[in-house]
Amino acid sequence: MSKIAIVYGSSTGATESVAEKIKASFDDATLFNADSVSVDDLKPYDFLIFGASTTGVGDLQDDWEILLPKIEKMDFSGKKVAIFGLGDSASFSTSFAGGMYVIYKALKGKAEFVGFVSTDGYTFDESDAVVDGKFVGLALDEDNEYNETDARIAAWVEDLKKYLN
Ligand SMILES: Cc1cc2nc3c(=O)[nH]c(=O)nc-3n(C[C@H](O)[C@H](O)[C@H](O)COP(=O)(O)O)c2cc1C
Repeated sequence: MSKIAIVYGSSTGATESVAEKIKASFDDATLFNADSVSVDDLKPYDFLIFGASTTGVGDLQDDWEILLPKIEKMDFSGKKVAIFGLGDSASFSTSFAGGMYVIYKALKGKAEFVGFVSTDGYTFDESDAVVDGKFVGLALDEDNEYNETDARIAAWVEDLKKYLN
């Protein structure tokens, strides 16, 4: 069985509550806060789910910003990575959920990414997190589209389960 770890970085709690929902969608997953997790904590897990909100203009959440240089040095062999990212598509329509892309860019080529998501059904103008026409992970908007969150998580987790051993 794949061992699943979810690492979330959350400034005001939105990403944390989404991370808890994602955890509840798996039979067995362990939740870590980016403000206190270490690389050693993550070594035993072969399926890593990284979640972060967006700050600044398309920037990565603060705790993740500190964690990412350490994660970049991790050995990802045999591990799969999926990302989810929160944003506000109304107030930040040109940098929607861009924090996801910061993680993706740092780990591209090191980690095997799964769980890219179609942009269908989202309303925004631009996002770094869209690569080759798809979000690099699950984009969520708890500020404007909270009604969509549960269905978006359910569809994404269903997709991720295909990659579990
Ligand atoms: C200062 C600030 C900057 C933000 N910048 C962006 C942004 O560039 N793009 C975006 O999609 N959302 C942006 N947001 C919205 C947050 O990412 C969003 O509200 C998120 O749900 C917060 O999650 P958290 O409470 O887990 O940190 C910003 C919010 C704040 C307060």
